[in-house]
Amino acid sequence: MSEGTAVTSGDAIENLLSEARTFAPPAEFVAQANFSDEAIFAEAAADPEAWWARWAARLDWMTPFETVLDNSDAPFAKWFTGGELNVSQNCLDRHVAKGHGSRVAYHWEGEDGERRSYTYDDLLDLTERFANVLLGLGVQKGDRVAIFMPMIIELPAAMLACTRIGAAHSIVFGGFASSALAERINDADCKVVITADGGWRRGKQVRLKELTDEALLSTPTIEHCVVVQRLGDQLDHPLGWVEGRDKWWHELMADAAPHADPTPMASEDLLYLLYTSGTTAKPKGLMHTTGGYLTGIVASMEMVFDAKPLTDVYWCAADIGWVTGHSYIVYGPLALGMTSVLYEGAPDWPAQDRNWEIVERYGVTILYTAPTAIRAFIKWGDHLPAAHDLSSLRLLGSVGEPINPEAWMWYHRVIGGERCPIVDTWWQTETGHHMIAPMPGITHTKPGSATHAIPGIDAAVVDEAGEPVPNGHGGLLVIRQPWPGMARGIWGEGGRERYQHTYWSKWPHLYFAGDGAKLDSDGYLWLLGRVDDVMNVSGHRISTMEVESALVEHESVAEAAVVGMLDELTGEAIAAFVTLNDEGSDGRDEAAVRAALLEHVAERIGKFARPRLLVFTQGLPKTRSGKIMRRLLKDIAEGRAIGDTQTLQDAAVVEQLQATVNALRA
Ligand code: WTA
Repeated sequence: MSEGTAVTSGDAIENLLSEARTFAPPAEFVAQANFSDEAIFAEAAADPEAWWARWAARLDWMTPFETVLDNSDAPFAKWFTGGELNVSQNCLDRHVAKGHGSRVAYHWEGEDGERRSYTYDDLLDLTERFANVLLGLGVQKGDRVAIFMPMIIELPAAMLACTRIGAAHSIVFGGFASSALAERINDADCKVVITADGGWRRGKQVRLKELTDEALLSTPTIEHCVVVQRLGDQLDHPLGWVEGRDKWWHELMADAAPHADPTPMASEDLLYLLYTSGTTAKPKGLMHTTGGYLTGIVASMEMVFDAKPLTDVYWCAADIGWVTGHSYIVYGPLALGMTSVLYEGAPDWPAQDRNWEIVERYGVTILYTAPTAIRAFIKWGDHLPAAHDLSSLRLLGSVGEPINPEAWMWYHRVIGGERCPIVDTWWQTETGHHMIAPMPGITHTKPGSATHAIPGIDAAVVDEAGEPVPNGHGGLLVIRQPWPGMARGIWGEGGRERYQHTYWSKWPHLYFAGDGAKLDSDGYLWLLGRVDDVMNVSGHRISTMEVESALVEHESVAEAAVVGMLDELTGEAIAAFVTLNDEGSDGRDEAAVRAALLEHVAERIGKFARPRLLVFTQGLPKTRSGKIMRRLLKDIAEGRAIGDTQTLQDAAVVEQLQATVNALRA
């Protein structure tokens, strides 16, 4: 484990593991469940390739695959080689062909109250036209298209249009700063960027086009910028426009031909890039490919969400800009032909019962959200969900961070009315789909435990030597066998080595997830948070290094150390310890410098990366060999008695820091 270890503190682990409550799947749920026989665990484990091949057969293949798994170039596994398919065809055309064109794909709701339902026919039409638009802009198979959009219907349509012509999308979450967008565009050499004139978030306009314009000052590969008119007349700020480069979506669409045949894609062709934070300052463009990814998503929708396309109204309340949205707002539900809710805005706008209003309005049956949101709902009060009819709900999901037992119990009782199984789903941008989660018709759940690997996935908790730990012990989470949705590598020069080094170098043949975990005495798996320098703030992944390098970039900063500290609401919050450089340190206005630094981080990365706690210090606690003692900083940030300081170079620094933090908190 590295110095920056972000494992839940000892007390919290003990509390978690003394959790003895178990919940059997309700009989009514079992009676209608897609899976209710425990035997499938053994069946999948006995022959994982046959298991996944059966799921792959649920897709429409233009050319059948020849080989299920080719792992001869491990860890770069290839799934379903020889096969050809198209993701947009699987998500749209095949449902329309079966007569489901008039089924609603998305009930879209804007934050401002605008509402519209889009059928599979509608979405196919948008997709085909936009595929022709992309072709007209010179986008070809294999090209990368950047997407920086709000949660509007044009976003899934743009993604599907890329897949239709074989271009890979690279979506950048709308909360990122312009320099983060530029960095991602440049890393992938994107040819086109798609954005909007803005979006709504907590009643304010998100200036997506303005940020895009700033980014495009330093992105030589971008030839065209397509702009969706989301705000139009309501726009409250000037809209920049570069003639020749910028084009309105609606004007291009008005001229676009209505039909575009889906391009056959090899199973291992690139579907998309998605950048995520690792342990370095440079985000990694993870590569997801076509056949295996879609197979894994479809399987997990049916196994973990117990998806029933004909009757469910499914709502994943995440943002499409993160992997949860890619897999479980767009590709998963569409591949099954489900009806979903797509909501643009914040859960507390205009009032804190917005989510419950939406559940009631559409009769949502499956709700998938994050512990950080659940903790906010708890804080806002039980009277809000109580004022709405939530009886349509039959299954609840959680994702993004460990869910604490109390939040789990509240979700179960207040939202689920004690009748809905909860699926706590552990997975990552790298894994593509659910890996550890209950099977809702089979698994007896325990509040706070993600329970077991899903059928077909071989997960283990191992010690430093890579040996599985016995029940009752903790260690590191690994995956032992390839799985269909796994990332195929990291984009760009040196990406192959980087992928190998990041995930597969600790032990040969084991995928190291970066998470600590523990098996309880019944063999249930409990996730304990990251063991590397990755923080998890409100379910957003961000590396300590990214924030540190943004800070030290600022002219007044000499040195910075960043750690994640436990936070009741957001899981973790960012704490930064900063040494200012000498110039003008006398009589400096600390409040002004603090504000400037926070703003600088917001400009470099995004507002969500601004430290909650920013402490100025004369020095940082270091070991005698000069390494910053991050664990100690974490203790200080969390206000804990600090551990062993024997190896410290200068113990006085620690006392001074504790005093400063206490003063800041007072
Ligand atoms: C954490 C999000 C505990 C974990 C899908 C992982 C979780 C990281 C859970 C991936 C969960 C995600 N319980 N921890 N149910 N789900 N995590 O790539 O630390 O944004 O490594 O993918 O989130 O975050 P990412």
